[in-house]
Amino acid sequence: MVRLEDITLRYRPGAAPALSGLDFALEGGSFTWLMGPSGAGKSSLLKLLHLAILPSEGRLNVMGTAIHAAGRKELPALRRRIGVVFQDFRLLPHLDVLENVALPLRIAGRGEQQLLADATELLRWVGLAERMKDRPEALSGGEQQRVALARAVVARPALLLADEPTSNLDAEQSRRMVNLLRQMHRLGSTVIVATHNEALPDEYPAPILRLEGGRLASHG
Ligand SMILES: Nc1ncnc2c1ncn2[C@@H]1O[C@H](COP(=O)(O)OP(=O)(O)OP(=O)(O)O)[C@@H](O)[C@H]1O
Ligand SMILES: [Mg+2]
Repeated sequence: MVRLEDITLRYRPGAAPALSGLDFALEGGSFTWLMGPSGAGKSSLLKLLHLAILPSEGRLNVMGTAIHAAGRKELPALRRRIGVVFQDFRLLPHLDVLENVALPLRIAGRGEQQLLADATELLRWVGLAERMKDRPEALSGGEQQRVALARAVVARPALLLADEPTSNLDAEQSRRMVNLLRQMHRLGSTVIVATHNEALPDEYPAPILRLEGGRLASHG
């Protein structure tokens, strides 16, 4: 599903690498916790995996495509099979909650009726059906985070990446978020969740990929 071979990432030529010498593979259908202190490179690794940036060195393979060698035209179709919950949500402020969640389906060209039904179902799933006509700014941070999850999964992504998805949630909501992520895992998505909350893997034991200073400290 995902394979990195000796991957280095520099944000600017000559700058210190944010990621270096990363070498590992994740199987299709796996669930992985991505851990490490602030600045370790968790978000940077997720940015590589959802193809927002390209590696400076090394070989990256995502869902059977060699990203380091792929043409620009190949990437958009691949990106549509990847769902992302961003650390800062990135909901569109001028669209209501329902339209935010429906957006990936619109981009995929789904029919209006099906798309609204699917988005509504997902909002019910995250417990926000009654807020679907609100703008994101009218929601709390935790509610926005759940909308971001609904949007990330509505198109049934093969690869689901979540960056600190519980950072704005209380203990109860956090447990709920983890349950939603495991449910996606059970439905067949490959899931990678970045967090510096050491308590989360206790709620759902799964392999841990640990970064320190941009390097892989352990995997298992
Ligand atoms: N856009 C950028 N331009 C330059 N340097 C960056 C950029 N984004 C991140 N970095 C640097 O890359 C390193 C890793 O940052 P990253 O955001 O990946 O860490 P993180 O593990 O996600 O941290 P946190 O837990 O605080 O979210 C840091 O040294 C950071 O300053
Ligand atoms: Mg981060």
